[in-house]
Amino acid sequence: MQEKLLNLKEIALKEIKDTLSIEDVENIRVKYLGKKGEITAILKEMGKLSNEERPIIGKVANEVREAIESEITSKKEELKNIEKQRKLLEEVIDVTMPSKKVRVGKKHPISQIIDEISEIFMGMGFSIAEGPEVETVHNNFDALNAPKDHPSRDMSDTFYINSELLLRTQTSPVQIRTMKNQELPIKIISPGRCFRFDAPDATHSPMFHQIEGLVVGKDVTMAQLKGTLNMFVKKLFGEETKTKFRPHNFPFTEPSAEVDVTCFKCNGEGCPMCKGEGWIEILGAGMVHPNVLRNCGIDPEVYSGFAFGMGVDRITMLKYEIDDIRLLFENDVRFLKQF
Ligand code: DAH
Repeated sequence: MQEKLLNLKEIALKEIKDTLSIEDVENIRVKYLGKKGEITAILKEMGKLSNEERPIIGKVANEVREAIESEITSKKEELKNIEKQRKLLEEVIDVTMPSKKVRVGKKHPISQIIDEISEIFMGMGFSIAEGPEVETVHNNFDALNAPKDHPSRDMSDTFYINSELLLRTQTSPVQIRTMKNQELPIKIISPGRCFRFDAPDATHSPMFHQIEGLVVGKDVTMAQLKGTLNMFVKKLFGEETKTKFRPHNFPFTEPSAEVDVTCFKCNGEGCPMCKGEGWIEILGAGMVHPNVLRNCGIDPEVYSGFAFGMGVDRITMLKYEIDDIRLLFENDVRFLKQF
């Protein structure tokens, strides 16, 4: 029996040595030490031994079992290590390999111009006000002193949502919201999207952008309006830029003006950019109409104000020499990444 045990031990140890997988090692364990294993079978025979033989064989059997178990344990450990090494080699990262290029987006040219203009006005002490794109007819027209028969109110010019709501046609309704909700004095600009019932062409888009400006307080004058706008255009277009105020009519200002700047390309000489005029129209402005102040609960005998509004898309097109407004809204990255 002793010989049988030692024999089995030799065979088992050799088998363990030759295995290549943890699974096989486990099979060997079952084969020898499992419930129906070969060593187990011999141990079950121990009862048949004499009292003298039993402790001797018992001792050998234990030694054999321990030898096999310890070999199994170290073999498993060895195989685990090999597997770990293999994985490490397989998953090694080549840090010298060129990486995939991450394409970084950039601000849309309209946003760039809005930011640039906002910075200029913030530098002059203006803060930014916001208003909704869906406005009341009241804020967009009535409170701004637009006569009931004003052509811009027509269904063919304005996107109405119902008889009281519309898509704002200008940023001017933010004037009303600000005068009703803020303490005086007021000094704000308000950039945002506007909408008009226009067929798209090179210079028209049914969605476009404006920046509104409003200053209200005591002793606000037209001279301050001119000074503010002169300072603004010099910062935006260059120090040599001059302005020209042409009389105009807006319902919400009196007096009203359209403001031209000397062409920043030819400096007023006349060139294709300014169509030979030397001047480019960039905004509307004026002194806030007393009716508008009154509509917002502000006494025009005590307070006065000036306002202005400019088309951001047009200014963007001028500055970047873009000849078709539709390019700005097609979102073609090949176009947008140029600015
Ligand atoms: N809201 C006018 C427009 O869309 C632009 C404008 C003109 C705004 C004069 C003003 C202003 O605040 O005083 O044509």
